[in-house]
Amino acid sequence: MENAILSNQTYFDDVTQLIGNTPLLKLNNMFKEQEVFAKLEYYNPTFSIKDRAAFYMVKKAIEKKQVQKGHTIIAATSGNTGLGLCLASNYFGLNYLCVTFDSVPNEKISLLKAFGATVVICDSEAESDEEGGYVWVAEKLNEKIENSYLIDQFTDINNPLVHYMDTGHEIWRQMNGEIDYYFSTIGTGGTITGVGRYLKKMNPNIKVIGVEPEGGIYRKVFKNQKYNFDTHLINSISDCFISPNTDFEVIDDIIGVSDNASFNMCYRALQNESLCIGTSSGCVLRGIEEYINKYDIGKNKRIVTIFPDMGLKYINTLYDLDFLESNNINIDKSKKDDNLKKYITQDFAKYKVKVAEEKWD
Ligand SMILES: Cc1ncc(COP(=O)(O)O)c(C=O)c1O
Repeated sequence: MENAILSNQTYFDDVTQLIGNTPLLKLNNMFKEQEVFAKLEYYNPTFSIKDRAAFYMVKKAIEKKQVQKGHTIIAATSGNTGLGLCLASNYFGLNYLCVTFDSVPNEKISLLKAFGATVVICDSEAESDEEGGYVWVAEKLNEKIENSYLIDQFTDINNPLVHYMDTGHEIWRQMNGEIDYYFSTIGTGGTITGVGRYLKKMNPNIKVIGVEPEGGIYRKVFKNQKYNFDTHLINSISDCFISPNTDFEVIDDIIGVSDNASFNMCYRALQNESLCIGTSSGCVLRGIEEYINKYDIGKNKRIVTIFPDMGLKYINTLYDLDFLESNNINIDKSKKDDNLKKYITQDFAKYKVKVAEEKWD
């Protein structure tokens, strides 16, 4: 994709030029023996990595005349692809029908509606690709709606392709080619497949490690073991089916991480690196930590990962104490300095000044 920053422009001609070329940050405080770098994909216009694939899939469909101005695109998504498709449909003058499910955080649903999408919410208890599930409903709606085009991020090869051409290439360039490990979560598999393929083409010795919630099935399938899907709290990754866009050939290993550890990692990233990351970023970061602790990989390895989206999308879940409590997530509060509270004494009471209440006090 044409990259405005690389061509030294002083301003961007349109919002699509803000897609990609995201910053890569070294995490200096959390990892001492290894060099860990995170690509901050919330710098994309709708604050997630999905702007890349969403825009590219629509662009290609238009080029192939599968869809044109005034037509409707339909997609099954857990939200982030939906937001990227809002951007693409605004840009190309399309209508957009977003099919999602009831456990997607309200913040994302509100944003989708504000963007102008028609949002259909399905039952999250239904298996995604079976009757009533969000993938199934999207397919049925596509059969019914005139001049509609189904964007299927699970099978569309343009999804991994854009990560091969852009994301993988950017990482290689930003790391000067000096990479030992690439860690990634797996949703559609577009990212791990595209980036993994590119990095391995450039240097076959780079290890590609997938990270998923404990309830996920990818690591069991990868190891040819029996599996059972268990629900989990990490958004947008590890659904109950294997996405055809996941190429196991590029993956060296897949590990599982608990919801509790992933959520705690988000708080640690906030307090130690000042990074407000989403749940899948917490999951992959925790995966790196567990992998390093479990395997003797030696010191000073250069490890790169991607933070797909930002924590502000999860204010009512990840950062909501009631949500955490009702889902048995225990956040480690050791960093908090409770001594400071003693300064808020009776003297302030007459001004109605008090310390903000916290459930876990
Ligand atoms: C927050 C978040 N993390 C991770 C992923 C996984 O990316 P991929 O679908 O490329 O595997 C997604 C995809 O929607 C996402 O939205």
